[in-house]
Amino acid sequence: MAKVLIATEKPFAAAAVEGIKNIISGAGFEIAVLEKYTEKKQLLEAVADVDAIIIRSDIIDAEVMDAAKNLKIVVRAGAGYDNVDLEAATARKVVVMNTPGQNANAVAELVLGLLVYAVRNFYNGKSGSELLGKKLGILAFGNVGRNVARIAKGFGMDVYAYDAFCPADVIEAAGVHAVKNQEALFETCDIVSLHIPATPETTKSINYDLCSKMKKGAILINTARKEVIDEAGLWKLMAERADLKYITDIMPKADKEFKCFTGRYFSTPKKMGAQTAEANTNAGLAAANQIVDFIKNGVTKFQVNK
Ligand code: 3PG
Repeated sequence: MAKVLIATEKPFAAAAVEGIKNIISGAGFEIAVLEKYTEKKQLLEAVADVDAIIIRSDIIDAEVMDAAKNLKIVVRAGAGYDNVDLEAATARKVVVMNTPGQNANAVAELVLGLLVYAVRNFYNGKSGSELLGKKLGILAFGNVGRNVARIAKGFGMDVYAYDAFCPADVIEAAGVHAVKNQEALFETCDIVSLHIPATPETTKSINYDLCSKMKKGAILINTARKEVIDEAGLWKLMAERADLKYITDIMPKADKEFKCFTGRYFSTPKKMGAQTAEANTNAGLAAANQIVDFIKNGVTKFQVNK
């Protein structure tokens, strides 16, 4: 009997775990759960006899794969899979999948929630400003970026986007202004929202020079990955320009240093974008179904390490 492990340092909502259990047991497989683990050792022990693992931002590296002698598939219940060593997986014939789009609305709603919080001065009682009519720049027009655009239009924002891999006509067809490059996005918009994955190309790409192009009073919001920010460069710029705000749901390594920008910096303590019952259920159930479909029928539709 195949065994599936849910390994989530940051647990899914209980309803999502129930749903996953039903799918896995219904397929005749065994299910185990490891939540809120604090040490890698616990993960290494839990994977010893499993065929499949469902994860979130949990790190699956070569050591974890070597500890999981029967491992055939890892499904990242979510979008970004930079937490899985794809090369190590391919070398061990382990299939890696994600569940694209399943948690996108949750992240997008948080973007607008954080923006309201930011323009209202973190609810400190002082007069703030509104999002209506402001120019919002979306960097990368994938599932999250598109949802941010949809919701932002409801706020009456003027929405712009740039995506190195998405043609301008696709962006324009969604009722969004396409700009020619990311520099133009930073120069044009009052608020820039990051939705790029963490890759070797994007790591530290949001740097001093790029952010220097931001308009007076601009806000940078990051619900993508902390790795894409050149933290030293952004810190230096914010020290020079008292008009800029940085808002994120991924605490920077330099959180303590950024905290000196009182009223201009905010980070949630845990990554919160996808942390809703709905997103957990959508992504978790999709992950469970993909595992069943892979083990029973060999379906590899969402494989990312081909
Ligand atoms: C994703 O890549 O899907 C999001 O960043 C959510 O990550 P999380 O599952 O760790 O909340």
